[in-house]
Amino acid sequence: MTTGLPMPVRDPRLPTRVRIYEVGARDGLQNEKTAVPTATKAEFVRRLAGAGLGTVEATSFVHPKWVPQLADAEALFPLLADLDGVRLPVLVPNERGLSRALALGARDVAVFASATESFAKANLNRTVDEALAMFEPVVTRAREAGAHVRGYLSMCFGDPWEGPVPADQVVAVCRRLIDMGCDELSLGDTIGVATPGQVAALLTGLNGAGIPTDRIGVHFHDTYGQALANTLAALRHGVTTVDASAGGLGGCPYAKSATGNLATEDLVWMLHGLGIETGVDLGLLTATSVWMAEQLGRPSPSRTVRALSHKD
Ligand code: HMG
Ligand code: MG
Repeated sequence: MTTGLPMPVRDPRLPTRVRIYEVGARDGLQNEKTAVPTATKAEFVRRLAGAGLGTVEATSFVHPKWVPQLADAEALFPLLADLDGVRLPVLVPNERGLSRALALGARDVAVFASATESFAKANLNRTVDEALAMFEPVVTRAREAGAHVRGYLSMCFGDPWEGPVPADQVVAVCRRLIDMGCDELSLGDTIGVATPGQVAALLTGLNGAGIPTDRIGVHFHDTYGQALANTLAALRHGVTTVDASAGGLGGCPYAKSATGNLATEDLVWMLHGLGIETGVDLGLLTATSVWMAEQLGRPSPSRTVRALSHKD
């Protein structure tokens, strides 16, 4: 039987509202083997916004040879200019990327650091220190231009080359991102290996280093099926910003073992079931992921999308 909505039962230890930071159009599509047409991407972002998502990461102004799937950022971003009331963050790795983004009127940008040397090299062609040095002028200039700056940090729990990542190592890089002026952080479990105890321990460590929970978002990939459990651990700690990808699209082209992100529909099902407001219409969102799956020619990996779109 297909039911449309979960039955809400509140847990008083959890926040009453969560901001979903939708990454499907960026983290999802950056990993597709085939290039998705620009018009389809624009339609995807519009539908996501129409489903009530207030933050929809749109694309990346990275080197087009490094991520050819998003090489159309210049063509895509202006197609979204009339979308009112929706934040459309974009990734910018360096000053070149920032200039491209600001020239098109981007108001929300994100730099993306790594907690490990191996991934810094693979993803940014830099050491951790060199990458942070590259970001520093980006963050300063972005803030001077009035943009909101997110600092992603990848490999916060485990790294495919280096194994488990000590929390202290992650906290140290987070502190540097905050000190250089990032408004918020997003803790990436890039390869999806974290478990809830690790999440709680890292959040406690960050608080201990003077980084308040209201500046921390979580970004879980679902490789080992832990993303929702990890999200719940973060919510219990007071986190209210959760990254997710419509339909569970995603991965990382420079970390082969990464699968899709936590699916936004699976997240919304849990949050609404817990009586937590998101502003998202689950029916419209699911219809968007079903439509996107048709464009990509394969079914959505999201359990909730499959359940809600199942036809007997
Ligand atoms: P590099 O090869 O070291 O580049 O790449 P460079 O600085 O040596 O510059 C070489 C040439 O590229 C120069 O051109 C630059 O102008 C040009 P030339 O002077 O030789 O003609 N160039 C650019 N062109 C356009 N836009 C730019 C740009 N930058 C340089 N922005 C670089 C260094 C950082 C650019 C490269 O490594 C890169 O683009 N990496 C991006 C990788 C990426 O996007 N990965 C996926 C996103 S991260 C992720 O998914 C994780 C996350 O989801 C969280 C999680 O799950 O953990 C966020
Ligand atoms: Mg990611």
